[in-house]
Amino acid sequence: MAALIAVLPGDGIGPEVTREAQRVLEVVGERHGLELTFEEALIGGAAIDAGHPPLPAETAELCARAAAVLLGAVGGPKWSDPGAAQRPEQGLLDLRATLGVYANLRPVRPHPALLAASPLRPELLADVDIMVVRELTGGIYFGRKTRSESVATDECRYAVEEIERIVRMAGRLAQTRQRRLVSVDKANVLETSRLWREVTTRVVAEEFPELTLEHMLVDAAAMHLLSRPASFDVIVTENMFGDILTDEASMLAGSMGLLPSASLGEDGRGLYEPIHGSAPDIAGQGIANPCATLLSAALLMRHSLDCEPAAREIEAAVSAVLDAGLRTADLARGGESVGTRAFGDAVLARL
Ligand code: IPM
Ligand code: MG
Repeated sequence: MAALIAVLPGDGIGPEVTREAQRVLEVVGERHGLELTFEEALIGGAAIDAGHPPLPAETAELCARAAAVLLGAVGGPKWSDPGAAQRPEQGLLDLRATLGVYANLRPVRPHPALLAASPLRPELLADVDIMVVRELTGGIYFGRKTRSESVATDECRYAVEEIERIVRMAGRLAQTRQRRLVSVDKANVLETSRLWREVTTRVVAEEFPELTLEHMLVDAAAMHLLSRPASFDVIVTENMFGDILTDEASMLAGSMGLLPSASLGEDGRGLYEPIHGSAPDIAGQGIANPCATLLSAALLMRHSLDCEPAAREIEAAVSAVLDAGLRTADLARGGESVGTRAFGDAVLARL
C-alpha cells in the first residue's frame, strides 16, 4: 500500500516537532511495508509571510489528495495584531473545515514516569485515562461574526446532524473502553447546549443503550477534571469547551508538550496535530518537546493508515524513552534535559 502524507510544519516550534515525527513515520512505515511519501506545504504565518493566504490553495489541494495530514502548529505574536487582515489560525480552521474533520480525539493518559510533573497530587492521577472527543467544525468557531466600532458578536450555532455525528463517534469509542460517556455542555444558559443535551440523550438511548451517559455543565466539568480526573472515560463536547478543557487536561499529563490529537471525518482521512501551540518563546532553539507530535504520528498510523501495530510501536518507543528518564526542558524541572532532536533520536533507537 502506498500513501501520501501531507506535512504542514507551520509556525514556531512546528517545524522542529514535525521533523521528528516524520523521521519516526519513515522508519515505522518502511518496516510495515507502507510505502509512505511525504510532501510539505505552507500554512499559517509561514504562508502569510510567503505572500499567500493562511491556507494557500496549493496546500488545501495537497491535503485533499493525501491519506493523512501531519501538522505542527500555527500562530505567533508576529501575526497577532488584532487589526491584522489575515490570521494564521484561520488557515487551520479552514483546513479543518475543508477536510470535514469534525471529530477531534484528544486522549489524556498521564505517563507513570511523569506523575510528579503534574501540578496535581500523584494519587489523583494514577488511573487517569480520558478520551476527549471535541466537535471541531461547528459552534462558535464557525458562526457568523460581526463587528462595528462599539459592538462585536460571535454566533454559536449547532445543527442536529452535527451533534448526532459527533455523539456517534464518541459512543463508538466508549463502547471499546469503559462505556462511560460524559457529555459536557452549558444547558442552564445556552440554547445550543439544550439542543446538544436533547440530541445526545436520544442518540445514546437509541444507538448505545449499553453506555452510561452523564450530562455535566462545563464549569463543573472543569472542576471535576481536577478533583476526580480518574472518574472520566469518554468526554464529548462542543468545539470551544473542548478546546479549553483539553488545555486544562494537559496538566494532568504534566506538560502541553505531551498531548496528541486526531481529527477525523467520515472517510479514513485525518489531520494529526499536537494540541499545543507554536510556543514562540522557545521556537528555533531545538528544545521543544516532540512527544505530542510523535504520539499524533501514532494516531495517524492507527486511524488513517489502519496500521495498529505501527501505532503501538511508536507509543511504546516514546513511553520507553520517558521510562529511561529522558526529559525535554518542559519536563526536566530544572534537572538535566535533552533537545528535540536527541529525544527523537532516542525514540528512533528504540524503534
Ligand atoms: C487547538 C488550538 C486551535 C483551536 C487554535 C490554534 C485555532 O488552540 O487546536 O486547540 O482553538 O482549535
Ligand atoms: Mg487549543
